[in-house]
Amino acid sequence: MRTHYCGLVDESLVGQTVSLCGWINTIRLQSHVAFIDLRDHEGLAQVVIERDNAAAFAMAGEVGNEYCLRVTGTLRKRLSINDKLKTGMVELVADTVQILNAAKDLPFALHENPNEEMRLTYRYLDLRRPQMQQMMRKRVRLVQALRRYLDARGFQDIETPILTKATPEGARDYLVPSRVHPGQFYALPQSPQLFKQILMMAGFDRYYQIARCFRDEDLRADRQPEFTQLDLEFAFVEERDVQDFVEELIRHVFREVQGVELDAAFPRMTWTEAMRRFGSDKPDLRIALELVDIAEAVRHVEFKVFSGPANDAQGRVAALRVPGGSTLSRKEIDVLTEYVGRYGAKGLAWLRIDDLAKGREGIHSPVAKFLDDPALEGILKATDAQTGDMLFFGAGAWKTVTDFMGALRLKVGKDRDLVENRWAPLWVTDFPMFEYDAEAQRYVALHHPFTAPKVDDAAQLRADPHNAVSRGYDMVLNGNEIGGGSIRIHRPEMQSTVFDLLGIGAEEAEAKFGFLLKALKFGAPPHGGLAFGIDRIAALLAGTESIRDVIAFPKTTSAQDLMTDAPSAVAAAQLRELHVQGLPGTAADD
Ligand code: AMO
Ligand code: AMP
Repeated sequence: MRTHYCGLVDESLVGQTVSLCGWINTIRLQSHVAFIDLRDHEGLAQVVIERDNAAAFAMAGEVGNEYCLRVTGTLRKRLSINDKLKTGMVELVADTVQILNAAKDLPFALHENPNEEMRLTYRYLDLRRPQMQQMMRKRVRLVQALRRYLDARGFQDIETPILTKATPEGARDYLVPSRVHPGQFYALPQSPQLFKQILMMAGFDRYYQIARCFRDEDLRADRQPEFTQLDLEFAFVEERDVQDFVEELIRHVFREVQGVELDAAFPRMTWTEAMRRFGSDKPDLRIALELVDIAEAVRHVEFKVFSGPANDAQGRVAALRVPGGSTLSRKEIDVLTEYVGRYGAKGLAWLRIDDLAKGREGIHSPVAKFLDDPALEGILKATDAQTGDMLFFGAGAWKTVTDFMGALRLKVGKDRDLVENRWAPLWVTDFPMFEYDAEAQRYVALHHPFTAPKVDDAAQLRADPHNAVSRGYDMVLNGNEIGGGSIRIHRPEMQSTVFDLLGIGAEEAEAKFGFLLKALKFGAPPHGGLAFGIDRIAALLAGTESIRDVIAFPKTTSAQDLMTDAPSAVAAAQLRELHVQGLPGTAADD
């Protein structure tokens, strides 16, 4: 149909007969000539239709944007060169113009910034836009580079089931009713976790899969109900074996896909250090601001907001120094106070340093009157505060303060343009094994229930689960958790102990994970691995905030596909067949 791509015609073809296919990007009609910018996935080419070519010229009057055309003609040098366009040196003088398909009036102009709802409803039009083409192609290149790297290193690409049993990763399951087994359900995998572990027990040694995962959870810009992982597992490894390998993999793909050289060795930080210094388990190291603990300085003061948590082992009093922050207005402080309120802060005390040399006189703060000289001096010293700075304080329960001060750090960093323009990867390690869920009154796994603890002995773990540290690790890039993994439990006693500590009794463990417990009894090797969020990495490479931009057919934040209108009602007969009854809105028969 075509001899060349629109975006690739150049001077070497001048004088030749060329056929191009594509969509009308823009059309300009003049009295003697019509200009069409014809677009395909490679870019634009200018088509010229002269009035002498009566049939084609008449057709130009009838077509509109996004008509699909085939144009044949002779390529010539342009009189007025357009140096903004890759093909701007040449133009195609049309002989024949064939309309391959008409286009209705468009719901939005492709070169404008349409709203998200329109984009997702007419996704095929949205994806025609050059910026979307570029972002999606970046993802394709990423996946190609990952595959090439792993294929060359002996990794086995093995598929695992989609219709399966629940694989807990902390979200709700998507369930599929069974027709042949009334009242029974498959679960869609939250990840291939247990299958990849079993592949190690089955002797495959190194596994990878570009795996679709399904999680019914509250969605955000970086979360979709179905998303893609690069899932990896290794037999006979310890933490550093996995980490060093995948770090090199990430360095390799950044070099190949982005032309970027990442740090020679990624910084490493324990979870405790990350929470203390950055108030986050995925710190964005491009922002130089850090939290400072000041409990020591305020333990003795009358002001209970500070001294309460300062004297409580479960409490925290932290300060954030904003260099040059004394320019923040009262209104801006109010906005920040409201912002941290959403993270559970009951207030946001602040202290402005107008002139450090003047001591108390040079300081402005609603809480200064509650702070005696030793407290004030202690705070200024701990934070290394300077004239022109602003200090913010968070006080209360450790987790709440850590969360809201971490959120404040990010917000202030972004608002004040303090985010350095660089790639900041790091490893976060030594996560707590368990987190206590006060509402459910039980422990939950911070990674997943198959992550090994640092201690080798099940009795030792049972003695002090609260302080147990896991062999889990996350890779973080620019404040995004791009990958997570761990060394796994490979002995049945330890796995049963962890289930027990998580409140999964022997019977439930047998019903849900009996196959795993059994498999562990047949010489399971030590093993570990990790999974990367491909959507998140692709979004970072493509320079977009939302993973929806690098997923061809994503869902909205309310888990709908606006193009196909999924989820949707199904016929009552189909539900009967599946033994699903009594749903609202399904009474009518088909
Ligand atoms: P985890 O749950 O940490 O680990 O997931 C691994 C990575 O997948 C990405 N990710 C998501 N991306 C988009 N939308 C989502 N809803 C979503 N949830 C997670 C993140 C995350 O780092 N089986 C383990 C891995 C292992 O232990 O080997 C697992 O799934 O980038
Ligand atoms: P109050 O005594 O509640 O009027 O608070 C006095 C100051 O302390 C105000 O500036 C509040 O914003 C601030 N404040 C109150 N509670 C907290 C808290 N939990 N953490 C940090 N600052 C707080």
